[in-house]
Amino acid sequence: MYNSKIIGLGHYVPDNVVTNDDLSKVMDTNDAWIQERTGIKERRHVVKGDGDTTTTMGVKAAKIAIERAGIDKDDIDFIVFATLSPDYYFPGPGVLVQRDLGIKTVGALDVRNQCSGFVYAISIADQYIKTGMYKNVLVIGSELHSHGLDMTTRGRGVSVIFGDGAGAAVLSREEDNTKGILSTHLHSEGQHAEELSLIAPGMGKRWVNDIIADNDPNDESYFPYMNGQFVFKNAVVRFSEVIIEGLEKNKLKSTDINLLVPHQANLRISQFIQKKFQLSDDQVFNNIMKYGNTTAASIPIALTEAWEAGKVKSGDLVVLAAFGSGFTWGSVIIRW
Ligand code: ACO
Repeated sequence: MYNSKIIGLGHYVPDNVVTNDDLSKVMDTNDAWIQERTGIKERRHVVKGDGDTTTTMGVKAAKIAIERAGIDKDDIDFIVFATLSPDYYFPGPGVLVQRDLGIKTVGALDVRNQCSGFVYAISIADQYIKTGMYKNVLVIGSELHSHGLDMTTRGRGVSVIFGDGAGAAVLSREEDNTKGILSTHLHSEGQHAEELSLIAPGMGKRWVNDIIADNDPNDESYFPYMNGQFVFKNAVVRFSEVIIEGLEKNKLKSTDINLLVPHQANLRISQFIQKKFQLSDDQVFNNIMKYGNTTAASIPIALTEAWEAGKVKSGDLVVLAAFGSGFTWGSVIIRW
């Protein structure tokens, strides 16, 4: 059995900055409410027609990660792509990345685990590398939320939170099993599936034909819905549990953590976790202030920025943790 390690990271966000004040011009919201509740100051939105999609942003992030990994694109053995906002209903963006990067005909897998998507994708890549089946796996998290949000006052509880962007990591074989990804921990609780969801178009309740036939401007089923307070309460509990689970599995304590990179759902959630584990500001990386919640892209964007800032050093214990729609949650324990 091998371990896997992250050998290259990259991220891409669109240039277009949307501030809280910008949002207050199109819906009844304000900078004070958004900052107080979420910590978000601004986010990036793709400008319609400028060519960026979930796939193209993922490709841009992947190119940087591959270059930094010091490998050739043809050394990649497998692609895992996490998103809730694919370019097409099907096929998923994994194959589009294979095409657009011009990689040979390797397997491409799409992960549908929303805010936990990147953690699930890393776990999948890790298993393939551990068994020796693949040597280099490209993992991407990318989201284009802005075109699918309800940008009216009706949707303000959700729309102010989400932003667009992409992050990518190249995982590779590590022969020393005291280094790299030590363990991953995944969970789900489908009982709460509808508490944070996008129902339509879906074969279960409302497909495109129903939407067109009804032509109902009040139909909200194709905008994301979130029971914010219920999600918040579950998030703080599950984040804590899954970090403790990962630490205990490796006989580590919270004082051993050098850097925690939590999914950027809400600055208040990150601060709650930081306090619970008695971590200093230096030990928790947050960038939700600049990008909002970019779902599957949030951890790889944050991890890339932390690495670029020199906050991730060889030998450090790095913990990734996420919670989101599903509900799903998970953690990754890394000896860098
Ligand atoms: N601007 C101004 N007022 C607003 C806005 C807004 N953008 N949105 C809602 N309000 C109002 C509401 O209408 C409500 O008004 P009322 O009291 O008159 O009814 C009031 O503000 C309070 O609304 P709540 O929804 O109760 O606000 P809350 O304090 O719960 O904050 C938030 C909302 C920020 C969404 C919070 O609940 C949260 O962060 N939840 C967790 C999010 C999360 O972790 N998601 C998981 C990942 S996402 C994924 O997986 C896709």
